[in-house]
Amino acid sequence: MNHSQSAALFTANSRHIPGGVVSLNRKVSPEIAFVRGEGAYLWDADGNRYVDYHAAFGPYLLGHGDPEIEDAVIAAVHAGHTLTGSGTTPWEGEAAELLCSCVPTLDQVLLMNTGSEATYTAIRLARAATQRQHVVVMQGGYNGWHDYVACNVMTPLDQLIDGPAENEYPFVGMSTGMAETVPQYVHVVEFNSLAAVRAAFERYPVACLITEPILQNIGVVKPSPGYLAGLQALCHEFGVVFVLDEVKTGFRHALAGYHSLEGLRPDLVVFGKAIANGYPVGALGGKASLMALFTDPDLAKRVMIAGTYNGHPIPLAAAIATMRKLRRDAATLYPALESRSARLADGMQDRFDRYGQPCVMSRQASAMAPYFMDHAPTSWRDLALHHDFTIDLALRRALVERGIYILPLATKQISVSSAHTDADIDATLDALDEVLRIGLT
Ligand SMILES: Cc1ncc(COP(=O)(O)O)c(C=O)c1O
Repeated sequence: MNHSQSAALFTANSRHIPGGVVSLNRKVSPEIAFVRGEGAYLWDADGNRYVDYHAAFGPYLLGHGDPEIEDAVIAAVHAGHTLTGSGTTPWEGEAAELLCSCVPTLDQVLLMNTGSEATYTAIRLARAATQRQHVVVMQGGYNGWHDYVACNVMTPLDQLIDGPAENEYPFVGMSTGMAETVPQYVHVVEFNSLAAVRAAFERYPVACLITEPILQNIGVVKPSPGYLAGLQALCHEFGVVFVLDEVKTGFRHALAGYHSLEGLRPDLVVFGKAIANGYPVGALGGKASLMALFTDPDLAKRVMIAGTYNGHPIPLAAAIATMRKLRRDAATLYPALESRSARLADGMQDRFDRYGQPCVMSRQASAMAPYFMDHAPTSWRDLALHHDFTIDLALRRALVERGIYILPLATKQISVSSAHTDADIDATLDALDEVLRIGLT
């Protein structure tokens, strides 16, 4: 496949942008510059077409440029729905009402632009509510780029301590330049270990625990049965705010959030990505008793929320249209996504088995990942110890070269959208068959 135009664009862009790309976790090899998306497909600067399973890190549940969403955006532009920057708007009210009706565990919500803003605000709110400072996060979880969560995602094994699962992991920041007090307050524990969380809660005055319900920034690492309910119970026992980060799972796995599938009632829930099918919207919602702190008459208790672009009418038009469509079509859309995703995951598993390539496909609804090990991982440590990263990366690169775009970075999630057809799945399985026939080296 020819990537010469992509290469030229990376070179040109590197003159004015460090690394040539404005979000450095998009810098992968091969370096491809995409210029168009439609439905299940992406086109690059050289005119190559790909079946897209990256979904821009997750937002495209309805595929690229869904006509209903794009029409709503265009209508909002033409109707003169510009940013006014004073007072409320009909669309923020409608988006909030829709979000609370789709996700009945939310009493009230706030609308922002990104998931990171929402997780930042959730932590600030939890600290204000509890008058405590400490935060518990998961090894292998990602909750955004700000100081209090940007740590310990794909941590190299040699930086993870051995020993019992209830030991805290060393804080491994994903950036230099963080405030040096951060590691004092952020405690990293093993996913799927309630003992680790209990130990942290006993050791520190913890304001909140924040976690993805499924670790979907290292593929699809699922909670053990009862684990999330156990977390919620531990949070109640210790007076810790239970923050569920549904930025990747929200709307993708169920209209009412992944937590609805397990009957949970988190104190706070964070959304982003699929809520607006590719437009920048983040949201924080939860219990009225906590949300009330944003307007507490006592300034000493009040939590600040501000943002020039919060509730911007154009992304909100996309969010409203997305939530309306998901709510209207939920009874058919989610089952169709489930069966197409099962077809892909089962077909991949079948090809791996047929060619004697040890692999376990881990899947939740339309999100999946192949793990080149003999069991589905239960944590990052388990994964880092047993997964064959070399084969994972080789497979991804070979598929990309055959027009199947799975992010060429080991363990990253494969996402199916409602725009993928059976023919797309078949083409993907054929490409996989060819790759395995030739052999992965
Ligand atoms: C689970 C989770 N939380 C938070 C974020 C941060 O969202 P954003 O990139 O919109 O700031 C991400 C982004 O990938 C995410 O996957």
